[in-house]
Amino acid sequence: MCFAKRSVIRDSLKKNGFKVTKRNVLNTEINELDKDYDLMVFGCSTWSFGEDEFEMQSGFKPFYNEIGQYQFINKKIGVFGCGDSSYKYFCSAVDQIEELISSKNGSLAGSSLKVDGDPFRNSTDINKWVSTLVKSV
Ligand SMILES: Cc1cc2nc3c(=O)[nH]c(=O)nc-3n(C[C@H](O)[C@H](O)[C@H](O)COP(=O)(O)O)c2cc1C
Repeated sequence: MCFAKRSVIRDSLKKNGFKVTKRNVLNTEINELDKDYDLMVFGCSTWSFGEDEFEMQSGFKPFYNEIGQYQFINKKIGVFGCGDSSYKYFCSAVDQIEELISSKNGSLAGSSLKVDGDPFRNSTDINKWVSTLVKSV
């Protein structure tokens, strides 16, 4: 399952033989997580409007608050985010989501992916990352 609008990841998972269900977190009920997926992938961009703090993509926040009540026992999760390394908090929403999943007993599917700029220009790195996800399942 890919909670993201980034079709590069979806297409790469498909090439690796996965059947992918892509969801927008804005329309996703928390009980979707109870389904027997081999892997779930959460994606969220990072935003900051000053020097001192960052925010996760606004659409992800309600879902983030909901998963704070969830126990990810026996769930394998990959996390990625889009951002821009010229900012102080490069893809920091990814770290925030990782921390939450770990604190809720989830199993992270390897290192998270931080995409610097246009995902279509980073497709080689994305494909490599998907390979590590696939091996973790
Ligand atoms: C005003 C503004 C603030 C941003 N702040 C950050 C930031 O703090 N960290 C980061 O990694 N990227 C930052 N970015 C880059 C965005 O996260 C990046 O463009 C991302 O691809 C946006 O994805 P989205 O349109 O799916 O939300 C910022 C971009 C803008 C325009």
